[in-house]
Amino acid sequence: MRTVGRIPKNFIDELIARADIVEIIGARVQLKKAGREYKACCPFHNEKTPSFWVSPDKQFYHCFGCGKHGTALGFLMDHDHLAFPEAVEELAARLGLEVPQEAGIDTSARRADEPLYELMTRVAAYYASSLAGHERARAYLEKRGLSRETIERFSLGYAANSWNDVLRRFGAQEADRKRLLDAGLIVERERGQIRDGERHYDRFRDRIMFPIRDTRGRVIAFGGRIIDAGEPKYLNSPETVLFHKGRELYGLHETRRARSNLKRLLIVEGYMDAVRLHQAGIDYAVATLGTATTPEHLKRIFRLVSDVVFAFDGDRAGRAAAWRALQQALPEAREGREIRFLFLPEGHDPDTLVAEEGREAFEARLSGALPLSEYLVRELSAQSDLTHADGRASFAESARPLFAKLPEGVYRELLLERLAQVVGLSASRLQELWTAGRTAAAPSAAAPAPRTPARVRLSAGRGGLVRQAIVRLLHYPAIAAQITAAERAGLDGSEEAGVPLLRDLIDDLQARPAQIPAQVIQRWDGREGAEVLPKLLEREEVITDAPAAAQELRAALVKLAEQAAGKRLEALETKSRTGNLEPSELVEFKQLIAKLGSRDARRG
Ligand code: UTP
Ligand code: MN
Repeated sequence: MRTVGRIPKNFIDELIARADIVEIIGARVQLKKAGREYKACCPFHNEKTPSFWVSPDKQFYHCFGCGKHGTALGFLMDHDHLAFPEAVEELAARLGLEVPQEAGIDTSARRADEPLYELMTRVAAYYASSLAGHERARAYLEKRGLSRETIERFSLGYAANSWNDVLRRFGAQEADRKRLLDAGLIVERERGQIRDGERHYDRFRDRIMFPIRDTRGRVIAFGGRIIDAGEPKYLNSPETVLFHKGRELYGLHETRRARSNLKRLLIVEGYMDAVRLHQAGIDYAVATLGTATTPEHLKRIFRLVSDVVFAFDGDRAGRAAAWRALQQALPEAREGREIRFLFLPEGHDPDTLVAEEGREAFEARLSGALPLSEYLVRELSAQSDLTHADGRASFAESARPLFAKLPEGVYRELLLERLAQVVGLSASRLQELWTAGRTAAAPSAAAPAPRTPARVRLSAGRGGLVRQAIVRLLHYPAIAAQITAAERAGLDGSEEAGVPLLRDLIDDLQARPAQIPAQVIQRWDGREGAEVLPKLLEREEVITDAPAAAQELRAALVKLAEQAAGKRLEALETKSRTGNLEPSELVEFKQLIAKLGSRDARRG
């Protein structure tokens, strides 16, 4: 399999131009023709009457119900839960195109990984094949209740009880040994410890092997469990170029293979837990690899689903881990997302519990899992005596830094109300006190987020010239070629909202012509200030055809230039009354008057 370095922008552009969004979406959603477009019941929210539209002309989809919209690439990412490079690969494969790599350091570094991936795949296959011949290992997995199918699904294997089995098989040449070392499969001996002239030894010996895969299914690391008892119980691959522990979730690849429409993820702590849950039919379980949940994990999780349950063992360590997970999760908590915590009975982990009580009972527990807000309140209440004012004050004090981690929004407001209720104050009073407390103390994490700069308001004045111009460029990007240098230059003096975006659009489209709206949307995807573009594209606009659009666009540009010139003239006029015009300003003033007439003349 190939790796993806930086994908050249032009290639993405070409993909969008060549892909057929109707075909892509039609393969996943039942589409019905309606005029020039297609409609369906939205795959992203529950509805009975269709409000999901796909436009072959714009190569764009939009749901009037939930507001989701995007290009073919965006759809693949959202619907199939693919990361951007994966969606690109998928689309390219469909069109029979090879994804090119952008030249540069980044790419060459990525390319160097390929032999490592290939090596990991071969070693994983070897471990898997070794299992059959090793009675003790097979018996152990049987004792743990794993079926043959599960063992195959997770490609579990066995690493022989040898210091050099993998070393000999896969490390014939010096270059091979270097690769084994880079992949974390062998370990280098200390200087004094070199035996029989061999500087390396196998990292994994006499262990059950759990291959850790990335979302694309490539083996990037291993976890090795000791058979029966011993230390360490699990030995994991070290951090390598392929493997960053804090980022990966064990079982995510298998989960995505099992579920085409993933709605919820269950996050557990152990390899065995994830495997055993899948076997029981809870095939949306993934494991953090013995680390606390990281912000990176959470970002990935919420890219895939909006409903997450964390399961923790009922012991002390489990409760501590849950509290850490809550703190990490706070910045991600917002309306539309469900974050819940499940505490298992003491002495159990998901593996033993699901084995004992089965899928239904376990899923019933999941349904009853504690919402983040309740868990927060419960935990803080347990630390203070809420029957006294002192206790409620200390509750408020410990809630403050946690509350401050929440992003602004409805969820935050609701939680504020809930906390205020516990403290026995109104929400506004509690917030006031928190704010007052903060000004006295040093600035803390609770400081209000800097105000976000005002969004470009293109909609102000429905007939806004800038909006008119952008809408036409969006629908018929090819008309950018007709804009003359003078028309483009006329924008430079304009201070209208949105003009910088309009200028960028024109410049980009003149340098790199585009044919369809989706190309423009994709190029501007994620750029600051460009959020307005898909919204403008969704609106019903009466634009008859490209020639009409070109004419209207150019007329808008001319008017914008005139407006800018008029403003400039006024400014110079004002200044001239005080008699302070520079020579160059005087020249400009005269030119402007010649062009526009004096202010009074224009008024008259
Ligand atoms: P646990 O000790 O709870 O193990 O560690 P477990 O998952 O229940 O394993 P079994 O059921 O005894 O086989 C939870 C996770 O912590 C990491 C592993 O990822 C493990 O799955 N861990 C644990 C290690 O990395 N190293 C260890 O020595 C122990
Ligand atoms: Mn266990």
